[in-house]
Amino acid sequence: MTEKRLLVTAALPYANGPVHIGHLAGCYLPADIYTRYQRAQKRDVQFVCGSDEHGVPITIRAMKEGVTPQEVVDKYHVLIKDSLAQMGVSCDIFARTSSSVHRATAQDFFTKLYEKGIFEETESEQYFDPEKKVFLADRYIVGTCPVCSNPGAYGDQCERCGSSLSPEMLLQPKSALSDAIPEKRKTKHWYFPLNKYEDWLREWIVEGKKDQWKSNVYGQCKSWIDAGLQPRAMTRDSNWGVPVPLKDAEGKVLYVWFDAPIGYISATKELTPHWADYWQKEDTKLVHFIGKDNIVFHCIIFPAMLKAHGGFVLPEAVPANEFLNIEGEKVSTSRNWAVWVHEYLQDFPGEADLLRYVLCANAPETKDNDFTWKDFQTRVNSELNSNFGNFVNRAMVMMHKLCKGRVPMYHAARRDDTDQALVAAIQEAKQKIQDSIETYHFRDALAEIMALSTKGNKYLQDKAPWLLAKKLEEDPSVQELIDNCVQLCLQLSANLAIFIAPFLPDTAKKMCHMMKVVDRMLFWENAGKMDLLRPNYQLREPELLFRKIEDVEIAAQVEKLHAASREKASASSTNAAPAASLAAPSAPPKAEISFDDFAKIDLKIGTIQAAEKVAKADKLLQLKVDMGNGEVRTIVSGIAQHFSPEEIIGKQVTVVANLAPRKMKGIESAGMILMSEDSEGKLVFVAPGTAVAPGAEVR
Ligand code: MF3
Ligand code: ZN
Repeated sequence: MTEKRLLVTAALPYANGPVHIGHLAGCYLPADIYTRYQRAQKRDVQFVCGSDEHGVPITIRAMKEGVTPQEVVDKYHVLIKDSLAQMGVSCDIFARTSSSVHRATAQDFFTKLYEKGIFEETESEQYFDPEKKVFLADRYIVGTCPVCSNPGAYGDQCERCGSSLSPEMLLQPKSALSDAIPEKRKTKHWYFPLNKYEDWLREWIVEGKKDQWKSNVYGQCKSWIDAGLQPRAMTRDSNWGVPVPLKDAEGKVLYVWFDAPIGYISATKELTPHWADYWQKEDTKLVHFIGKDNIVFHCIIFPAMLKAHGGFVLPEAVPANEFLNIEGEKVSTSRNWAVWVHEYLQDFPGEADLLRYVLCANAPETKDNDFTWKDFQTRVNSELNSNFGNFVNRAMVMMHKLCKGRVPMYHAARRDDTDQALVAAIQEAKQKIQDSIETYHFRDALAEIMALSTKGNKYLQDKAPWLLAKKLEEDPSVQELIDNCVQLCLQLSANLAIFIAPFLPDTAKKMCHMMKVVDRMLFWENAGKMDLLRPNYQLREPELLFRKIEDVEIAAQVEKLHAASREKASASSTNAAPAASLAAPSAPPKAEISFDDFAKIDLKIGTIQAAEKVAKADKLLQLKVDMGNGEVRTIVSGIAQHFSPEEIIGKQVTVVANLAPRKMKGIESAGMILMSEDSEGKLVFVAPGTAVAPGAEVR
């Protein structure tokens, strides 16, 4: 069998923000490991990526920051490109969808489908801003959330309560561009008839990929197809994107999920004049690395587009990963709950491999996984340092101490079962690592490498050459045993360098430097060989491959994570709406009441004596409030996300003292604490300006 040409892609990140470690674990790292391995196999492989620079999220970001979309993408393209490069993600090109090559490629693709009569032209009603004279994507309509009354909810989602919405559901809907009330207008769009590809997709995926694609990927595709496919609009009313290449399409651009995957093709075009070999020759294996939120686009929509166009290869594998949570919570860019790659690189300069290791060892390959800084520390210290790094270091130290700093020869006559077992383990590991990588089980492959280094440590411990050395005086032939042990350990170290190279490229480089071998040794064909280091070859002094991560570093990272999300929380409550012109309307005035109504309310000042969290309720604090005259009340208040129990003890508050008691989470609350918001949107207690005695009346 001649080997296939390989084209590897990793999802084009949106250039509307930096990348976080979930992105790395989701697709960039696996794509990189896979590609580095294929290069080591000397296969013909290209790895393309780039930034996805169109779509509504980018225009929203621009609006929020008060800059143009072009400025947004210019900034994030560079930031993302640098972060990925510093993490060792070795794509052959990192292109961008705002390039002219991309624009032409996407337009040609569209034109081809248009000329083949694939599209259906359909008029529909869409929201329109009568002042700015533009159609509005759902995201561009803001109003009050019908669920939580957040005045800054979007037409597709409320970011405060997470409800998914449609523009019709918003109360007091407004255009985010002008404050005008949106109107419905007719607009024409070009639809791709996915329904017509349903039978083909069923055969290609449901029947054809059952045992080939990962079950999460296969399952999602199958349920989409089973639910029935609908025509999908491939154009949008917008001025940011690839213009629709038709005469009557003023103010219309290609839908971002139409142009972005074509970005893989245009990136390949920019990379090599032989781009067509990778896209149009049958013997190409196309592999898309993505996160699970991209599955339908890569498995259903893009393949149907390629099929409709004709002449293109289809993806052979789409190894999508699940999500990586952080410290037990879902990553959220709006809450700033994320570990940003560029920040990691600032805090751990030159230590990309540590993060690569942890993210791969804990990769969300089959289910969502959790990243915690504690686990990062544990894995770096006990797996990288105490296992892998320790073995390589001991092998080198033994050679310097017991073999005069040179690779000893192997005395075959004195081979024993332990030696044989170690050699066999290396060969077996090679096969397993290779099989795992080729089937996208990178975690397993990495675990296999670590298991092999564990065996190395065990071998060294069993042989204990430092004890043998004590017998040298009475029996000089013991040196042969020492030599054999050190020989095998060094050969194992060289093999470990080959195995680890796709995962931890900097570490492999360091190992080559210590062993004074050229990078060429790292080709996969050398794996499993036991003569990688020639006898009598002089090696360098060992240096530690890794360092230990201290507790303080971990504490600092955890604190940073929480601080960033706290900061975001207080910042976003001041400007809940996306633009200055959309400042939150103040709450509507309530109906008038009589003085008698007011006189019915018993308002009193109390002092908080004690506060504690209510179990299983993240919003509630249980308070003991001193109401004067020896009366202490239990009041449950929904302020736990704004105040810690400790910080409010001793505070004076205003209490509605005659509110009918009610039970919350099984605790009877006798009264209510009055709250307001300060100018920054932070909750504050309504309290007397100077201290008054508990129990004082408020009139
Ligand atoms: N920008 C998209 C995301 O981050 C991925 C686009 S992948 C491509 O989810 F295929 F469309 F390029
Ligand atoms: Zn809401």
